[in-house]
Amino acid sequence: MTETLDIKIERTKASRLSSTDFSDLSFGKVFSDHMFVADYEDGSWKNFQIVPYGDISVSPAMSVLHYGQAFFEGLKAYKLDDGKISMFRPYKNAERFNKSAARLCAPELPEDIFVQSIAALVDVDKDWIPSGENQSLYIRPFMFSTDPYLGVQPSKTYKFMVITSPVGAYFAKPLNVKVETHYSRASEGGFGFAKAAGNYAGSLYPALEAAKEGFDQVIWTDSKEHAYIEELGAANLVFVIDGKLITPSTRDTVLNGITRDSVLTLARHWGMEVEERRVSVAEVLEASEAGTLTEAFGVGTAATIAPIASIGFDGKKYQLPDLDKAEFSKRALKTLNELRYGLSPDEFGWNYLV
Ligand code: PLP
Ligand code: COI
Repeated sequence: MTETLDIKIERTKASRLSSTDFSDLSFGKVFSDHMFVADYEDGSWKNFQIVPYGDISVSPAMSVLHYGQAFFEGLKAYKLDDGKISMFRPYKNAERFNKSAARLCAPELPEDIFVQSIAALVDVDKDWIPSGENQSLYIRPFMFSTDPYLGVQPSKTYKFMVITSPVGAYFAKPLNVKVETHYSRASEGGFGFAKAAGNYAGSLYPALEAAKEGFDQVIWTDSKEHAYIEELGAANLVFVIDGKLITPSTRDTVLNGITRDSVLTLARHWGMEVEERRVSVAEVLEASEAGTLTEAFGVGTAATIAPIASIGFDGKKYQLPDLDKAEFSKRALKTLNELRYGLSPDEFGWNYLV
C-alpha cells in the first residue's frame, strides 16, 4: 500500500438518509450523500475530494460528450454480520479499470488510489449500506475525458469520480433470453474487454429490439459467424452441461468478469470440472434438447447470479429445467453471499475490510 491519500472531505449539511426508503431498492436510482472526485491535469492525479453528491458543470465542448472516452467499474460494499464493512475484491476492479484506461488512451490510476478513494467514500457513507437480504452498496467508479476541444485525439485532462447507490437485486425474476444473431456487442480488435461506456451505448438498440419480442436480455455471439456465445447483456454466462461447468473463454470481445472468476474458483474448489473455451450456440441448444443442459445463468456484480429460464433461438424457445433443480447456481450464490456478508470464513481472501 502506498502512503495514505490526502483527501479533502466536505460533508453534506442536508443528508437524504432518513428520507430514503431502504425497503424498496431497485437498482441504481438512489444515490448516497457523497461522491468522490479527482482531476488529472499536467500528467498527474490531484484534487482528491469527497463532496456532497450533486450535479457537475461541464463545457459543451468536453471531449467525452463527442468522442466517448469514458469507462467505469462496478463493485459492491457489504455490511458484515459483525458490523464491519467490506468491499468484494476491489483490486480486481482496479486492475480492470486500468486495462480499460489503456485501451481508451486515458491515464492509469494507481490501484492503491482507486481502492483508497473508494474505501474513503464508503466509510463516509457507511450508513447508506443497506443490510436487507441481497442488499448492498453498489459502487460506480468512472473516468471521463474533459478537454474542451473538438479535435479527435486523446484528451489531456480527465476526471475520476465515484458514486454509490444502495441496491437490491438487479433482475427480479429468471430471464427469458434471446441468442442475438444479427447485432454485435464487440468485435475482434475492438474494446469489448473494456468497461467502456460505448459498449453499453451500442447494446441498447439490440436489447430494445429483443424486448419487443418479449425477451429480457440478449446472449451476445461472436461478430463474425454469430455461432459462438460470448456474454449475456451486462454479465458473463455460465452453463452446466453433463455436470460440467462450461463458460466462454474471455478474449478481446468479452469482459473478464470478477464474479465469473469467483464462481469458477468455487467450482474448481468443489472438485467440479470447469471448461473455459469457445462455446457454440449449437452445442448449448443440442444439450438443451438432449436434456443435458441443466443450468444456465448470468454472473456479474449487479446481476449476482441470474438464472435463465429459457433461451430463444430462430423462433424456437428452449426451456431450462425448473430452478429448484439448479443445484450449482443456488450453492454458488449462497456461498458467495455467506462469504460477502461475513457469515462464513473468507477462505479466498476476497473481502477487503474498509
Ligand atoms: N460483462 C459485462 C458486459 C458487464 O457489464 C459485466 C458487469 O460488470 C460483467 C460481464 C460481469 O463482470 P463483473 O462480474 O466483474 O461485474
Ligand atoms: C455491473 O455489474 O457492475 C455492471 O456494470 C452492470 C451494469 C452495466 C448494470
